[in-house]
Amino acid sequence: MTLRTIDSLGPLAGTRVVVRCDLNVPLKDGVITDDGRVRASVPTLTALVEQGAKVIVISHLGRPEGAPDPKYSLEPVAVRLGEVLDAPVSFATDTVGEDAAAKVAALGDGEVLVLENLRFNPGETSKNEAERTAFAGQLAEFADSVVSDGFGVVHRKQASVYELEQLRPSAAGLLIAAELDVLDRLTENPERPYVVVLGGSKVSDKLGVIEHLLPRVDALLIGGGMLFTFLAAQGHKVGSSLLEADQIDTVKGYLADAAERGVDIVLPTDVVVAASFSAEADHQVAAADAIEETPFGASGLGLDIGPDTAAAFAERVRGAKTVFWNGPMGVFELAPFADGTRTVASALIEVEGLSVVGGGDSAAAVRQLGFDESAFGHISTGGGASLEFLEGKKLPGLEVLGWQ
Ligand code: 3PG
Repeated sequence: MTLRTIDSLGPLAGTRVVVRCDLNVPLKDGVITDDGRVRASVPTLTALVEQGAKVIVISHLGRPEGAPDPKYSLEPVAVRLGEVLDAPVSFATDTVGEDAAAKVAALGDGEVLVLENLRFNPGETSKNEAERTAFAGQLAEFADSVVSDGFGVVHRKQASVYELEQLRPSAAGLLIAAELDVLDRLTENPERPYVVVLGGSKVSDKLGVIEHLLPRVDALLIGGGMLFTFLAAQGHKVGSSLLEADQIDTVKGYLADAAERGVDIVLPTDVVVAASFSAEADHQVAAADAIEETPFGASGLGLDIGPDTAAAFAERVRGAKTVFWNGPMGVFELAPFADGTRTVASALIEVEGLSVVGGGDSAAAVRQLGFDESAFGHISTGGGASLEFLEGKKLPGLEVLGWQ
């Protein structure tokens, strides 16, 4: 590990430091529903403010299409950042335009400015390297140096994550360093038993990580929407539950591979089936091989793992020395379908060893279900980034900071 640290940038007092954060938080009607990523950006920003740097924060929010879209404005996030920093934070209504330039020029030592959403500019996410470099060049105009601290976005080869860091002296922030410290322990000789819990809606998002983890873990527990593709691969009918029919053969391959290697892929034995996708819908627990035998028949929707499965998963988790969990077990946002996720999260707290919650949705789930964050070993701010890290992929936003 040769990650360049902030110290390598030399004294920063009075200089302009552009900080790439990942402030991509969930918003509902303009209100932040989980501010974990805003709070996670504080240590680095505070360190820079304390040094007397002029701090210019850049981030994306959502996936706007390269043009301004008010529903993805970072303004509410800038307001929240001011609250958590307990300091005034100003906001520029564009990213590299007149307002940004004027506000950067007016920024005093130890002050913080947030620029508008990077992705309002087509150059940020362009597939064309020259376009990305041109946009990075505009951002670099505001920077004497760059600190990259958006761990959640290091797997993206985007202008602010990859090209900008090459145009100015750059270093990793404290969040990236802290994330790598923990995630590295999952890849370098994890203490055994090593149990991974995967959920979330799509198997297709998890193919790489499943393939990479199968030879490395002792057990893989499968919940969330993706479990139905596994049940279908076992020959079960899944009603109208989420199903990726084109992945069934791949999943059959995983099941065969796991059996050969002696790795347990632990699948649900029961699920909560609902008449429709609603918190008010009729629902009942069904055996995993009898999903269509509820009164809802073939239109029944599996929305959570069942209580027997949750208890079995919890037991496997509690008995592990290393646990990585990515992806909710069910539709935790709707109260009747939150129990599976709650039970797994409770078990994680009891792990005597390293427990890591990886990813946007699972991290949001533990906070929204009211768990004390400090009870978990580590809650990663990276969803896709933490998965790709575990897959052993080279991540552009880390390579550019010297990480090997
Ligand atoms: C995330 O939420 O995983 C990161 O902020 C990256 O966002 P993206 O998937 O839109 O690139």
